[in-house]
Amino acid sequence: MITIDTLSPRLLDARYAVRGPIVNRAQQLEERGRTVIYCNIGNPQALQQRPLTYLRQLLSLVEYPELLRRAETERLYPADIVRRARTILAQHPPGTGAYSQSPGLPFVRQAVADFITKRDGIPADKGHIILTDGASKGVQAVITALLRSPADGFMIPIPQYPLYSASLTLYGGARIGYFLDEDHGWQLDESILTRSIQDAKKRGINPRGVVVINPGNPTGAVLSAENIGMIIRFAKTHGLAIIADEVYQENIYDQHLPFWSFAKIMAETGERDVTLFSLHSVSKGFLGECGHRGGYVEFRNIPDDVLAQFVKLQSISLCANLVGQLATYMMVAPPQQGEESYAGYISEKEAILHDLKAKAEILGNGINGIKGMSVTVPHGAMYAFVRFELPGGKDVAHMRAAEREAYEEERDSAYCLALLEETGICVVPGSGFGQKPGTFHFRTTFLPPRAEIEGLVAKLKTFHERYTHDMSVA
Ligand SMILES: Cc1ncc(COP(=O)(O)O)c(C=O)c1O
Repeated sequence: MITIDTLSPRLLDARYAVRGPIVNRAQQLEERGRTVIYCNIGNPQALQQRPLTYLRQLLSLVEYPELLRRAETERLYPADIVRRARTILAQHPPGTGAYSQSPGLPFVRQAVADFITKRDGIPADKGHIILTDGASKGVQAVITALLRSPADGFMIPIPQYPLYSASLTLYGGARIGYFLDEDHGWQLDESILTRSIQDAKKRGINPRGVVVINPGNPTGAVLSAENIGMIIRFAKTHGLAIIADEVYQENIYDQHLPFWSFAKIMAETGERDVTLFSLHSVSKGFLGECGHRGGYVEFRNIPDDVLAQFVKLQSISLCANLVGQLATYMMVAPPQQGEESYAGYISEKEAILHDLKAKAEILGNGINGIKGMSVTVPHGAMYAFVRFELPGGKDVAHMRAAEREAYEEERDSAYCLALLEETGICVVPGSGFGQKPGTFHFRTTFLPPRAEIEGLVAKLKTFHERYTHDMSVA
């Protein structure tokens, strides 16, 4: 039999905090009848967000074309949806049960290119787009392709989304962490980036790329155009590719903070030397179709022979799943004004985004009212990275980095576990994302229904007061 000690050490070492031991404990509690509020993962439809009618009606027709005639004659669905289903099936006659070309259905890739052009006012080429099973697979493809040896590494933010650290462990690359600036709305700071890359080079690491998540997970920050321009110049100076994780581009709740894509800023500055991989997904935004596993990578400033290798890599898994490809199509090609389904689509979209904005504010302002806790009220994405204070503890100043990290992980994990046991609220310890030495955080989503968020803030307050009081008298 295969035993645990004969498994790949890289797999054994990989850690993915958002589905780690605290979540396992939450599931156990739930099986025993406890109510758990899952704030650990950005999975909107698991927390009562309803799917968009447009997307589900259209998918149902392409999945089961026998419905088409009834949908039309009995007027089950709006006429534009029936028309669109027929167009999709005409462009891919075998339907969802057949593989597509490796990079994905050509008409979907064209729709993605049109979406980018419309969003950014720049040309985009369908030949530079690969459809993926969610953004996760796109990220893993980039890491796989760029790592040549264990000495190659990627710059990743601290705090980061653990897909990056886990994938680097899995594929055998080095992690070059750079801190985000909590005191300045979690933007990137050039001097921090420079210090981090210089340290990495001194340790013999060859930096290959810099990962930027905008809007941020877990920070909820939205980067300014200036900040993005700085990152592009930094990447050019140091010969890095940019991995722009833009899966939260629709999740911006402050009208004064537009979404700036890396592609747009690069095009505007005429940058032609820095390779850009930008990622998007159907999991987030107002679609929240996490289970459908759809997304894409757009490549810029990339030689044809390199792109061909990415297509080959994708061909090793044949292609992304077809329903996910079509969900991506529906994300980038929504109903148009004048079509019957348009009004319903817009009202569902606005209701979801409006609700998320209200919940971000209720959560953020509520937490800032708790003594010993603070948070940058999220402007984007679906998360708040909450800082909290813990009294007492050992003097960490003289500990070695690994020892201190393990000690701090023990403390923030104990806090989150106690929070779960006492209140049923499931959040992820900050150590799972990375945090500045000496600070403690947890990440929570603001996805639960509005009434639950209000209750959640009240429970957090009672818990935090009790926990820190008990620690100080212990
Ligand atoms: C920053 C970021 N990138 C990528 C992903 C993965 O998304 P997908 O479901 O498209 O694989 C997530 C999921 O939470 C995320 O937060």
